[in-house]
Amino acid sequence: MYSLMDYGWMLADRQRCAAFMHVMRENIGTDSVVLDLGAGPGLLSLYALKLGARLVYAIDPNPAIRLLAKLQPDAVKSGRLRIYCCDSRKVSVEEAADVVLADIRGPTSFAGGCFDIVTDACARLKKPGGMVYPQRDQIHVAPVCEEAVIGKLRSYWLDNLLDVDASVVFRHEMGQIRDSKAASGDLLAPSQKWGAVEWNPVPRMTWVDSLCFEIERGGRLDGFLQWFDLAFDNETTVSNSPGSEDVVYGRCSFLLSEPVEVSPGWVVTLSLRAFHTPSRTHWTWSGEVRDASGMRRHSFSESSLKSTSLLAIGAKSDVICE
Ligand SMILES: C[S@@+](CC[C@H](N)C(=O)[O-])C[C@H]1O[C@@H](n2cnc3c(N)ncnc32)[C@H](O)[C@@H]1O
Repeated sequence: MYSLMDYGWMLADRQRCAAFMHVMRENIGTDSVVLDLGAGPGLLSLYALKLGARLVYAIDPNPAIRLLAKLQPDAVKSGRLRIYCCDSRKVSVEEAADVVLADIRGPTSFAGGCFDIVTDACARLKKPGGMVYPQRDQIHVAPVCEEAVIGKLRSYWLDNLLDVDASVVFRHEMGQIRDSKAASGDLLAPSQKWGAVEWNPVPRMTWVDSLCFEIERGGRLDGFLQWFDLAFDNETTVSNSPGSEDVVYGRCSFLLSEPVEVSPGWVVTLSLRAFHTPSRTHWTWSGEVRDASGMRRHSFSESSLKSTSLLAIGAKSDVICE
């Protein structure tokens, strides 16, 4: 759950803030009904009120949203601002929204069950013809050498200060999705567009079944870096690509269980898939590495369920005997 410091950090992201202000100024008028979906402490709701919106719904399960009532007691009293401290899927509204502000994403476009949450909001809380902002995510991936992440995992588990064998933990930590600080110089091949999400009129996702990368820079292939370009409208885009100015979302990498050394001219194929559930998105990433002569050097098959299954064992019993 985010802290107020986290929300402050999100609001201090100039690019993201400017993009929201732009689409809000363009699309909110005195007759607008606005839904601030995942409002946090509700500053976008305050801005919607400032622009004259007739009715604003602010929804977030985080108790930080309760502060909003203290900031705008008159709007709450008059019914112009309605605040719900809960999951939006439990909320019903009398009048559906013209404008939905929905930025629940994190390092991926689907963090926190976002796909399901927005799908539900579009079906029940948005007017036909109403709009969700941002409108579109374009998602890119590229093979990456994750020196910093792998170095950290090695120092925690393989080269630990106690000098004990924790290699099982290290192996468990590999083959997972990790926050990444990789820069464009860490990419081993040019990126490719993997997929896109159109959030209007209802969320719809498309992706490419299989991507094929030709290695340009030799090195250790640790996984695949993913990032997105967010289109707020046709002219306003915010990107968390490794080449652009840092934005609050960060990026993540889909790590391989076993990194592999690759050389220029080698070919890496990747099949990356996303499966949405109400609480989260699960991912699988599989493929192979072939050298310049076409000989297969490596194959991989990973799943984000790996970390979930370990937690499930813990939940079954407090004492694990085997
Ligand atoms: C990235 S923050 C955005 C905060 C704020 N709207 C902003 O733009 O600064 C995403 C918010 O979505 C909220 N959220 C997550 N799941 C939700 C749900 N099911 N219903 C409503 N809000 C949700 C989180 O608690 C979090 O505050």
